[in-house]
Amino acid sequence: MTSTPASASPASASPASTVITGIGELTTVDAEHRVLHDAAVVIDDGRIAWIGPSAQAPAADTSYDAEGRAVLPGWVDSHTHLVFAGDRGAEFEARMAGQQYSAGGIGVTMSATRETDDATLASLLAARVGDARRGGTTFLETKTGYGLSVEEEQRHARLAEQAADVVTFLGAHLVPPGADADEYLDLVCGPMLEAVAEHVQWADVFCERGAFDVDASRRVLQACRDAGLGLRVHGNQLGPGPGVKLAVEMGAASVDHVNHLDDADVAALADSETVATCLPACDLSTRQPLAPGRRLLDAGAEVALASNCNPGTSYTTAMGFCVATAVLQMELTLKEALRAATMGGARALRVEDEVGSVEVGKRADLHVLDAPAAIHLAYRPGMPLTHAVFKDGRREV
Ligand code: NIG
Repeated sequence: MTSTPASASPASASPASTVITGIGELTTVDAEHRVLHDAAVVIDDGRIAWIGPSAQAPAADTSYDAEGRAVLPGWVDSHTHLVFAGDRGAEFEARMAGQQYSAGGIGVTMSATRETDDATLASLLAARVGDARRGGTTFLETKTGYGLSVEEEQRHARLAEQAADVVTFLGAHLVPPGADADEYLDLVCGPMLEAVAEHVQWADVFCERGAFDVDASRRVLQACRDAGLGLRVHGNQLGPGPGVKLAVEMGAASVDHVNHLDDADVAALADSETVATCLPACDLSTRQPLAPGRRLLDAGAEVALASNCNPGTSYTTAMGFCVATAVLQMELTLKEALRAATMGGARALRVEDEVGSVEVGKRADLHVLDAPAAIHLAYRPGMPLTHAVFKDGRREV
Protein backbone atom coordinates (compact mmCIF):
# COMPACT_ATOMS: atom_id res chain seq x y z
CA MET A 1 0.00 0.00 0.00
CA THR A 2 1.22 3.55 -0.71
CA SER A 3 0.20 6.91 0.69
CA THR A 4 -0.77 8.76 -2.51
CA PRO A 5 -4.43 7.86 -3.04
CA ALA A 6 -6.30 8.45 -6.28
CA SER A 7 -10.08 8.09 -6.37
CA ALA A 8 -11.78 4.77 -7.30
CA SER A 9 -14.30 5.41 -10.10
CA PRO A 10 -16.80 3.11 -11.86
CA ALA A 11 -15.26 0.49 -14.16
CA SER A 12 -11.74 1.41 -13.07
CA ALA A 13 -9.15 -1.35 -13.33
CA SER A 14 -8.67 -3.28 -10.12
CA PRO A 15 -5.90 -1.49 -8.20
CA ALA A 16 -3.63 -3.39 -5.85
CA SER A 17 -5.24 -1.75 -2.84
CA THR A 18 -8.12 0.63 -2.09
CA VAL A 19 -9.25 2.16 1.17
CA ILE A 20 -12.93 2.95 1.57
CA THR A 21 -13.30 5.56 4.28
CA GLY A 22 -16.24 7.47 5.74
CA ILE A 23 -18.61 4.51 5.97
CA GLY A 24 -21.56 5.77 8.03
CA GLU A 25 -22.80 2.28 8.79
CA LEU A 26 -21.00 -0.95 7.87
CA THR A 27 -23.15 -4.08 8.11
CA THR A 28 -20.71 -6.96 8.11
CA VAL A 29 -23.08 -9.99 8.20
CA ASP A 30 -20.25 -11.82 9.96
CA ALA A 31 -20.96 -14.36 12.73
CA GLU A 32 -21.63 -11.55 15.23
CA HIS A 33 -23.51 -9.52 12.62
CA ARG A 34 -21.46 -6.48 13.59
CA VAL A 35 -22.74 -3.08 12.56
CA LEU A 36 -19.89 -0.53 12.69
CA HIS A 37 -20.14 3.25 12.48
CA ASP A 38 -17.55 5.66 11.02
CA ALA A 39 -15.80 2.63 9.61
CA ALA A 40 -13.30 1.93 6.85
CA VAL A 41 -12.44 -1.12 4.77
CA VAL A 42 -9.17 -1.80 3.00
CA ILE A 43 -9.25 -3.93 -0.14
CA ASP A 44 -6.06 -5.60 -1.28
CA ASP A 45 -5.81 -7.67 -4.42
CA GLY A 46 -9.59 -8.03 -4.65
CA ARG A 47 -10.08 -9.18 -1.06
CA ILE A 48 -10.93 -7.52 2.24
CA ALA A 49 -7.63 -6.85 4.01
CA TRP A 50 -8.65 -4.66 6.95
CA ILE A 51 -11.81 -3.42 8.70
CA GLY A 52 -11.79 -0.79 11.43
CA PRO A 53 -12.47 2.79 12.45
CA SER A 54 -12.23 5.28 9.60
CA ALA A 55 -9.86 7.48 11.60
CA GLN A 56 -7.35 4.63 11.84
CA ALA A 57 -7.52 3.43 8.26
CA PRO A 58 -4.17 2.67 6.68
CA ALA A 59 -3.32 4.30 3.35
CA ALA A 60 -3.72 2.44 0.08
CA ASP A 61 -3.03 2.89 -3.63
CA THR A 62 -6.44 4.49 -4.16
CA SER A 63 -9.15 5.76 -1.87
CA TYR A 64 -12.91 6.08 -1.97
CA ASP A 65 -14.83 8.26 0.46
CA ALA A 66 -18.28 6.80 1.21
CA GLU A 67 -19.26 10.20 2.68
CA GLY A 68 -21.33 8.72 5.48
CA ARG A 69 -23.19 6.17 3.36
CA ALA A 70 -24.13 2.67 4.46
CA VAL A 71 -22.11 -0.26 3.13
CA LEU A 72 -23.16 -3.93 3.02
CA PRO A 73 -21.93 -7.10 1.38
CA GLY A 74 -23.14 -7.31 -2.24
CA TRP A 75 -26.30 -9.35 -2.70
CA VAL A 76 -25.83 -13.04 -3.46
CA ASP A 77 -28.70 -13.96 -5.78
CA SER A 78 -28.84 -17.74 -5.58
CA HIS A 79 -31.83 -18.36 -7.87
CA THR A 80 -32.36 -16.87 -11.33
CA HIS A 81 -33.38 -18.10 -14.81
CA LEU A 82 -31.73 -15.47 -17.02
CA VAL A 83 -31.22 -17.42 -20.25
CA PHE A 84 -34.41 -16.62 -22.09
CA ALA A 85 -35.95 -14.65 -24.90
CA GLY A 86 -39.51 -13.47 -25.44
CA ASP A 87 -42.06 -11.71 -23.31
CA ARG A 88 -44.93 -13.05 -21.22
CA GLY A 89 -46.43 -9.73 -20.16
CA ALA A 90 -49.85 -10.77 -21.48
CA GLU A 91 -49.75 -13.96 -19.38
CA PHE A 92 -48.88 -11.85 -16.33
CA GLU A 93 -51.70 -9.42 -17.08
CA ALA A 94 -54.19 -12.28 -17.38
CA ARG A 95 -52.95 -13.63 -14.05
CA MET A 96 -53.53 -10.28 -12.40
CA ALA A 97 -57.07 -10.52 -13.78
CA GLY A 98 -57.60 -13.82 -11.99
CA GLN A 99 -56.07 -16.56 -14.14
CA GLN A 100 -53.92 -19.15 -12.30
CA TYR A 101 -50.21 -19.66 -13.00
CA SER A 102 -49.34 -23.03 -14.51
CA ALA A 103 -45.97 -24.62 -15.33
CA GLY A 104 -47.07 -24.87 -18.98
CA GLY A 105 -45.92 -21.28 -19.63
CA ILE A 106 -42.35 -22.57 -19.59
CA GLY A 107 -43.04 -24.04 -23.05
CA VAL A 108 -43.82 -20.57 -24.43
CA THR A 109 -40.42 -19.28 -23.34
CA MET A 110 -38.75 -22.46 -24.60
CA SER A 111 -40.04 -21.76 -28.14
CA ALA A 112 -39.01 -18.09 -28.09
CA THR A 113 -35.55 -18.92 -26.72
CA ARG A 114 -34.89 -21.73 -29.20
CA GLU A 115 -35.54 -19.24 -32.03
CA THR A 116 -32.97 -16.75 -30.69
CA ASP A 117 -29.37 -16.84 -31.88
CA ASP A 118 -26.33 -16.98 -29.61
CA ALA A 119 -25.32 -13.33 -29.98
CA THR A 120 -28.81 -12.05 -29.15
CA LEU A 121 -29.22 -14.41 -26.23
CA ALA A 122 -25.78 -13.47 -24.89
CA SER A 123 -26.63 -9.78 -25.04
CA LEU A 124 -30.00 -10.31 -23.29
CA LEU A 125 -28.18 -12.25 -20.62
CA ALA A 126 -25.50 -9.57 -20.21
CA ALA A 127 -28.16 -6.86 -19.92
CA ARG A 128 -29.91 -8.79 -17.14
CA VAL A 129 -26.67 -9.37 -15.27
CA GLY A 130 -25.94 -5.64 -15.68
CA ASP A 131 -29.33 -4.76 -14.20
CA ALA A 132 -28.61 -7.05 -11.26
CA ARG A 133 -25.20 -5.46 -10.71
CA ARG A 134 -26.68 -1.97 -10.79
CA GLY A 135 -29.01 -3.11 -8.02
CA GLY A 136 -26.15 -4.32 -5.83
CA THR A 137 -25.87 -8.00 -6.78
CA THR A 138 -22.26 -9.14 -6.85
CA PHE A 139 -22.64 -12.94 -7.01
CA LEU A 140 -25.23 -14.58 -9.16
CA GLU A 141 -26.44 -18.06 -10.03
CA THR A 142 -28.40 -18.75 -13.18
CA LYS A 143 -30.00 -21.81 -14.74
CA THR A 144 -30.71 -23.54 -17.99
CA GLY A 145 -34.26 -24.85 -18.32
CA TYR A 146 -35.72 -23.11 -21.36
CA GLY A 147 -33.81 -25.27 -23.85
CA LEU A 148 -35.29 -28.70 -23.05
CA SER A 149 -33.37 -30.53 -25.79
CA VAL A 150 -29.79 -31.78 -25.65
CA GLU A 151 -28.48 -29.17 -28.08
CA GLU A 152 -30.40 -26.27 -26.60
CA GLU A 153 -29.65 -27.07 -22.96
CA GLN A 154 -25.97 -27.31 -23.85
CA ARG A 155 -26.11 -23.98 -25.72
CA HIS A 156 -27.83 -22.26 -22.79
CA ALA A 157 -25.37 -23.73 -20.29
CA ARG A 158 -22.47 -22.47 -22.39
CA LEU A 159 -23.92 -18.97 -22.63
CA ALA A 160 -24.83 -18.91 -18.94
CA GLU A 161 -21.30 -19.90 -17.98
CA GLN A 162 -19.99 -16.76 -19.65
CA ALA A 163 -22.32 -14.44 -17.75
CA ALA A 164 -23.00 -15.84 -14.28
CA ASP A 165 -20.81 -16.84 -11.35
CA VAL A 166 -22.34 -20.33 -11.11
CA VAL A 167 -24.66 -22.29 -13.38
CA THR A 168 -27.37 -24.84 -12.64
CA PHE A 169 -28.66 -27.49 -15.05
CA LEU A 170 -32.47 -27.48 -15.09
CA GLY A 171 -33.28 -29.82 -17.97
CA ALA A 172 -35.98 -31.15 -15.63
CA HIS A 173 -37.96 -27.92 -15.76
CA LEU A 174 -40.84 -29.26 -17.88
CA VAL A 175 -41.44 -32.19 -20.21
CA PRO A 176 -41.42 -30.21 -23.46
CA PRO A 177 -44.77 -30.07 -25.28
CA GLY A 178 -45.26 -33.17 -27.44
CA ALA A 179 -42.48 -35.22 -25.80
CA ASP A 180 -43.00 -38.58 -24.08
CA ALA A 181 -42.38 -38.14 -20.33
CA ASP A 182 -40.35 -41.36 -19.86
CA GLU A 183 -38.24 -40.78 -22.94
CA TYR A 184 -37.58 -37.19 -21.86
CA LEU A 185 -36.49 -38.34 -18.42
CA ASP A 186 -34.03 -40.78 -20.01
CA LEU A 187 -32.68 -37.91 -22.07
CA VAL A 188 -32.25 -35.59 -19.07
CA CYS A 189 -30.49 -38.25 -17.01
CA GLY A 190 -28.30 -39.41 -19.91
CA PRO A 191 -27.23 -37.48 -23.02
CA MET A 192 -28.45 -34.07 -21.83
CA LEU A 193 -26.63 -34.30 -18.52
CA GLU A 194 -23.51 -35.45 -20.32
CA ALA A 195 -23.73 -32.55 -22.77
CA VAL A 196 -24.05 -29.83 -20.11
CA ALA A 197 -21.81 -31.27 -17.39
CA GLU A 198 -18.67 -29.34 -18.32
CA HIS A 199 -20.53 -26.01 -18.10
CA VAL A 200 -22.47 -26.37 -14.84
CA GLN A 201 -21.83 -26.94 -11.13
CA TRP A 202 -25.39 -27.57 -9.93
CA ALA A 203 -28.52 -29.47 -10.92
CA ASP A 204 -32.13 -28.67 -10.12
CA VAL A 205 -35.54 -30.23 -10.71
CA PHE A 206 -39.02 -28.69 -10.73
CA CYS A 207 -40.73 -31.13 -8.36
CA GLU A 208 -44.34 -30.01 -8.67
CA ARG A 209 -47.70 -31.05 -10.05
CA GLY A 210 -47.59 -30.39 -13.82
CA ALA A 211 -43.79 -30.77 -13.93
CA PHE A 212 -41.92 -33.76 -12.35
CA ASP A 213 -43.30 -36.11 -9.69
CA VAL A 214 -41.24 -37.27 -6.74
CA ASP A 215 -39.92 -40.47 -8.36
CA ALA A 216 -38.89 -38.73 -11.55
CA SER A 217 -37.33 -35.91 -9.51
CA ARG A 218 -35.37 -38.35 -7.38
CA ARG A 219 -34.07 -40.08 -10.48
CA VAL A 220 -32.86 -36.78 -11.97
CA LEU A 221 -31.16 -35.78 -8.73
CA GLN A 222 -29.46 -39.15 -8.36
CA ALA A 223 -28.11 -39.06 -11.92
CA CYS A 224 -26.85 -35.51 -11.47
CA ARG A 225 -25.25 -36.32 -8.13
CA ASP A 226 -23.51 -39.30 -9.74
CA ALA A 227 -22.20 -36.90 -12.38
CA GLY A 228 -20.61 -34.81 -9.62
CA LEU A 229 -23.10 -31.93 -9.53
CA GLY A 230 -24.44 -30.29 -6.38
CA LEU A 231 -28.20 -30.48 -5.95
CA ARG A 232 -31.06 -28.05 -5.50
CA VAL A 233 -34.84 -28.46 -5.86
CA HIS A 234 -37.78 -26.25 -6.87
CA GLY A 235 -40.29 -27.42 -4.27
CA ASN A 236 -43.67 -26.68 -2.68
CA GLN A 237 -44.28 -23.67 -4.92
CA LEU A 238 -47.82 -24.17 -6.18
CA GLY A 239 -49.18 -26.40 -3.45
CA PRO A 240 -48.15 -28.82 -0.70
CA GLY A 241 -45.91 -31.59 -2.04
CA PRO A 242 -42.87 -33.79 -1.62
CA GLY A 243 -40.22 -31.31 -2.84
CA VAL A 244 -38.90 -30.20 0.55
CA LYS A 245 -38.64 -33.71 1.97
CA LEU A 246 -36.96 -34.95 -1.21
CA ALA A 247 -34.44 -32.10 -1.09
CA VAL A 248 -33.56 -32.92 2.50
CA GLU A 249 -33.42 -36.67 1.78
CA MET A 250 -31.02 -36.05 -1.11
CA GLY A 251 -28.85 -33.62 0.84
CA ALA A 252 -29.64 -30.77 -1.55
CA ALA A 253 -27.95 -27.46 -0.80
CA SER A 254 -31.26 -25.64 -1.12
CA VAL A 255 -34.94 -26.05 -1.77
CA ASP A 256 -36.43 -23.02 -3.42
CA HIS A 257 -39.93 -21.46 -3.34
CA VAL A 258 -41.16 -23.26 -0.14
CA ASN A 259 -44.55 -21.54 -0.17
CA HIS A 260 -46.69 -24.43 1.03
CA LEU A 261 -45.07 -26.11 4.02
CA ASP A 262 -46.47 -28.41 6.69
CA ASP A 263 -44.91 -28.76 10.13
CA ALA A 264 -42.87 -31.79 9.04
CA ASP A 265 -41.37 -29.81 6.13
CA VAL A 266 -40.34 -27.00 8.47
CA ALA A 267 -38.88 -29.46 10.99
CA ALA A 268 -37.01 -31.33 8.26
CA LEU A 269 -35.43 -28.09 7.02
CA ALA A 270 -34.54 -26.97 10.54
CA ASP A 271 -32.75 -30.29 11.13
CA SER A 272 -30.82 -30.19 7.88
CA GLU A 273 -28.13 -28.30 6.00
CA THR A 274 -30.62 -27.58 3.22
CA VAL A 275 -31.24 -23.84 2.87
CA ALA A 276 -34.86 -22.72 2.43
CA THR A 277 -34.78 -20.14 -0.35
CA CYS A 278 -37.70 -17.72 -0.35
CA LEU A 279 -38.58 -15.87 -3.55
CA PRO A 280 -40.90 -13.03 -2.55
CA ALA A 281 -41.01 -11.27 -5.94
CA CYS A 282 -42.26 -14.52 -7.47
CA ASP A 283 -44.83 -15.00 -4.72
CA LEU A 284 -46.28 -11.55 -5.40
CA SER A 285 -46.20 -12.04 -9.16
CA THR A 286 -48.04 -15.37 -8.95
CA ARG A 287 -50.31 -14.41 -6.05
CA GLN A 288 -49.03 -17.31 -4.02
CA PRO A 289 -48.89 -16.95 -0.24
CA LEU A 290 -45.54 -15.45 0.71
CA ALA A 291 -43.10 -18.15 1.81
CA PRO A 292 -43.18 -18.53 5.62
CA GLY A 293 -39.78 -17.01 6.29
CA ARG A 294 -40.62 -16.09 9.89
CA ARG A 295 -41.76 -19.62 10.70
CA LEU A 296 -38.66 -21.14 9.10
CA LEU A 297 -36.30 -18.86 11.01
CA ASP A 298 -38.12 -19.44 14.31
CA ALA A 299 -37.73 -23.19 13.76
CA GLY A 300 -33.99 -22.76 13.19
CA ALA A 301 -33.79 -23.21 9.41
CA GLU A 302 -31.32 -21.25 7.28
CA VAL A 303 -33.24 -18.91 4.99
CA ALA A 304 -32.05 -17.29 1.75
CA LEU A 305 -33.77 -14.60 -0.29
CA ALA A 306 -33.35 -14.62 -4.07
CA SER A 307 -34.95 -12.86 -7.04
CA ASN A 308 -35.94 -15.87 -9.20
CA CYS A 309 -35.71 -13.56 -12.21
CA ASN A 310 -37.53 -15.28 -15.08
CA PRO A 311 -40.11 -14.20 -17.68
CA GLY A 312 -42.99 -16.22 -16.24
CA THR A 313 -43.22 -15.70 -12.52
CA SER A 314 -40.76 -13.01 -11.43
CA TYR A 315 -39.38 -10.64 -14.04
CA THR A 316 -37.01 -8.74 -11.77
CA THR A 317 -33.45 -8.99 -10.47
CA ALA A 318 -34.15 -6.39 -7.77
CA MET A 319 -32.79 -7.94 -4.60
CA GLY A 320 -33.44 -4.69 -2.69
CA PHE A 321 -37.14 -5.17 -3.47
CA CYS A 322 -36.96 -8.75 -2.11
CA VAL A 323 -35.33 -7.48 1.09
CA ALA A 324 -37.96 -4.75 1.47
CA THR A 325 -40.77 -7.28 0.95
CA ALA A 326 -39.24 -9.67 3.48
CA VAL A 327 -39.19 -6.90 6.08
CA LEU A 328 -42.53 -5.32 5.23
CA GLN A 329 -44.56 -8.45 4.52
CA MET A 330 -42.75 -11.59 5.74
CA GLU A 331 -42.02 -10.37 9.26
CA LEU A 332 -38.26 -10.66 8.96
CA THR A 333 -36.19 -8.10 10.82
CA LEU A 334 -33.80 -6.00 8.74
CA LYS A 335 -30.90 -8.02 10.12
CA GLU A 336 -32.54 -11.33 9.12
CA ALA A 337 -33.44 -10.08 5.65
CA LEU A 338 -29.94 -8.73 4.99
CA ARG A 339 -28.41 -11.99 6.10
CA ALA A 340 -30.81 -14.02 3.94
CA ALA A 341 -29.97 -11.95 0.83
CA THR A 342 -26.21 -12.20 1.35
CA MET A 343 -24.94 -15.01 3.59
CA GLY A 344 -28.13 -17.05 3.11
CA GLY A 345 -27.62 -17.03 -0.66
CA ALA A 346 -23.93 -17.78 -0.21
CA ARG A 347 -24.79 -20.80 1.94
CA ALA A 348 -27.36 -21.96 -0.60
CA LEU A 349 -24.58 -21.92 -3.20
CA ARG A 350 -21.98 -23.28 -0.77
CA VAL A 351 -19.71 -20.28 -1.35
CA GLU A 352 -19.93 -18.82 2.16
CA ASP A 353 -16.15 -19.00 2.60
CA GLU A 354 -15.74 -16.61 -0.32
CA VAL A 355 -18.70 -14.20 -0.39
CA GLY A 356 -21.79 -13.14 1.59
CA SER A 357 -20.16 -11.05 4.34
CA VAL A 358 -17.61 -8.30 4.85
CA GLU A 359 -14.76 -10.15 6.56
CA VAL A 360 -11.01 -10.10 6.23
CA GLY A 361 -9.93 -12.61 3.60
CA LYS A 362 -13.22 -12.69 1.71
CA ARG A 363 -13.78 -11.28 -1.75
CA ALA A 364 -14.31 -7.52 -1.66
CA ASP A 365 -17.90 -7.55 -2.93
CA LEU A 366 -19.47 -4.41 -1.51
CA HIS A 367 -22.70 -2.49 -1.95
CA VAL A 368 -22.65 1.21 -1.09
CA LEU A 369 -26.15 2.59 -0.49
CA ASP A 370 -27.22 6.13 -1.17
CA ALA A 371 -28.51 6.21 2.39
CA PRO A 372 -27.00 6.55 5.86
CA ALA A 373 -28.32 3.20 7.08
CA ALA A 374 -29.44 -0.13 5.61
CA ILE A 375 -32.93 0.20 7.08
CA HIS A 376 -33.62 2.67 4.26
CA LEU A 377 -33.98 -0.37 1.97
CA ALA A 378 -37.33 -1.12 3.64
CA TYR A 379 -38.08 2.39 4.89
CA ARG A 380 -37.95 3.78 1.33
CA PRO A 381 -39.12 0.76 -0.68
CA GLY A 382 -38.66 0.92 -4.43
CA MET A 383 -36.20 3.81 -4.34
CA PRO A 384 -32.96 3.45 -6.34
CA LEU A 385 -30.64 3.22 -3.34
CA THR A 386 -27.55 1.65 -4.95
CA HIS A 387 -24.78 4.25 -5.06
CA ALA A 388 -21.71 2.11 -5.87
CA VAL A 389 -20.85 -1.56 -6.25
CA PHE A 390 -17.45 -3.21 -5.89
CA LYS A 391 -16.94 -6.77 -7.13
CA ASP A 392 -13.67 -8.49 -6.32
CA GLY A 393 -12.39 -5.09 -5.23
CA ARG A 394 -13.11 -3.48 -8.58
CA ARG A 395 -15.67 -0.71 -8.76
CA GLU A 396 -18.29 -1.76 -11.33
CA VAL A 397 -21.12 0.70 -10.60
O1 NIG B 1 -39.03 -20.59 -10.57
N1 NIG B 1 -40.99 -22.88 -10.98
C1 NIG B 1 -40.46 -23.08 -12.01
N2 NIG B 1 -39.74 -22.23 -12.75
C2 NIG B 1 -39.87 -20.82 -12.73
C3 NIG B 1 -40.98 -20.33 -13.59
C4 NIG B 1 -40.73 -20.56 -14.99
C5 NIG B 1 -41.71 -19.98 -15.95
O2 NIG B 1 -42.93 -19.93 -15.73
O3 NIG B 1 -41.22 -19.60 -17.02
C6 NIG B 1 -39.99 -20.34 -11.29
O4 NIG B 1 -40.98 -19.75 -10.89
